[in-house]
Amino acid sequence: MASYDVIIIGSGPGGYVCAIRCAQRGLKTAIVEGRETLGGTCLNVGCIPSKALLHASHMLHEAEHNFAAMGLKGKSPSVDWKQMLAYKDDTIGQNTKGVEFLMKKNKIDWLKGWGSIPAVGQVKVGEDVHEAKSIIIASGSEPSSLPGVEVDEKVVVTSTGALELGKVPKKMVVIGAGVIGLELGSVYSRLGAEVEVIEFLDAITPGMDAEVQRTFQRLLAKQGLSFTMGAAVQKVDATKTKAKVTYKLRKDDSEHVVDADIVLVATGRKPYTEGLGLDALGIAMTKRGQIAVDAHWQTNVPGIYAIGDVIEGPMLAHKAEDEGMAAADHIAGKHGHVNYDVIPGVIYTHPEVANVGATEQGLKEAGTKYKVGKFSFMGNGRAKANFAGDGFVKILADADTDRILGAHIIGPAAGDLIHEICVSMEFGASAEDLALTCHAHPTYSEAVREAALACGLGPIHS
Ligand code: NAI
Repeated sequence: MASYDVIIIGSGPGGYVCAIRCAQRGLKTAIVEGRETLGGTCLNVGCIPSKALLHASHMLHEAEHNFAAMGLKGKSPSVDWKQMLAYKDDTIGQNTKGVEFLMKKNKIDWLKGWGSIPAVGQVKVGEDVHEAKSIIIASGSEPSSLPGVEVDEKVVVTSTGALELGKVPKKMVVIGAGVIGLELGSVYSRLGAEVEVIEFLDAITPGMDAEVQRTFQRLLAKQGLSFTMGAAVQKVDATKTKAKVTYKLRKDDSEHVVDADIVLVATGRKPYTEGLGLDALGIAMTKRGQIAVDAHWQTNVPGIYAIGDVIEGPMLAHKAEDEGMAAADHIAGKHGHVNYDVIPGVIYTHPEVANVGATEQGLKEAGTKYKVGKFSFMGNGRAKANFAGDGFVKILADADTDRILGAHIIGPAAGDLIHEICVSMEFGASAEDLALTCHAHPTYSEAVREAALACGLGPIHS
């Protein structure tokens, strides 16, 4: 048995970042992880591997669609799927080994195995019980199930199986037009699969700015993805090699069946708390099965904290990281803070989609008077040169004070561009502050400045 200041259960971006901050604060720290490698869902079967496949498939798309126009002639590359998977696995390996290195560097013990909390102040891993003054649950999330759909990770897959397919399918049906469905649907569409997305609601990517939703769906359709909207999937009948997806259209209750080689179930994720022993400890949960925490990420049981996907809020790696650092600071007697109003969201398709802060719908509901500054990437010289003129930047600012309230970007490098707006919002900047900031030419970021200008006197290039 060993004794620690802090034991963190789970080594995803929430857990391992929290562990490093604990160590930086001088706390004796251990991290519990049952997988063979550190990094959790994000590094092993989520963000990182999907980005590798998105990158590779985007390169193919560029070669097929834009190379000739740039004077790059020759045969388009063909897909060596085994090698693409090897590249993805190598990317995972580099990242998980990197986290292992960081644990060693910060003198954080890795307790290998699945952890549970037999009593306050104790964490059990295998047969060993360790003591800790504070315990942080960072056990993440798992794909949620859909009634009538049995996942085998071969023909009917979640995002995990979709990163390991034996071959590129001819026909893929994606259930759910959320982040996972559209990212992985894009990958296989670019690699040559016929991809049909079946979505319950009438718009893709729930909760996103409505104008972005429409533009995004149009651009994805142009790339070859097809959408069946307002359709509730009833069941999936699968053999070892094929599947039939039955859905009902909400508008007329009519039933339809579609064949697929692969069905990707991407209808959301749920907190993963199995085997932790939370019931016996009397840890309070929310109605949605999340661990309930206070403003300092403390559960109702003293000394036990929770961060990331197991608590409420967007299931995003960077939100978990921020909570991990803040909870560590709090345990170390410092001030830990997360500004939940400024958490960016990014979808890594092409074009990328990014947002932060308020949506127009939200502002209308709250009765806030606001103005909109919008600028199309068609007016951005760099974007035009790079065949990346699709999309726009939209900034929402308070009608009276000009303070930036939110931003929505669809276009090239949107996931990077959003951060200058995040920083602006953190500093309480007005749209004019952003518009007065010199932006290098020619960069995509000029489109952000133009949208800020559009909140005032008007943009220059449209
Ligand atoms: P999601 O919640 O984003 O989307 C699920 C979609 O499935 C919704 O549009 C919903 O209306 C639809 N749906 C639900 N039941 C259905 C049914 N029976 N028939 C048809 N459609 C149905 O969930 P997703 O994409 O699985 O992602 C899970 C979580 O992982 C999200 O919280 C997301 O933020 C996170 N994630 C984030 C990424 C990023 O930041 N780039 C990448 C991947 C995941």
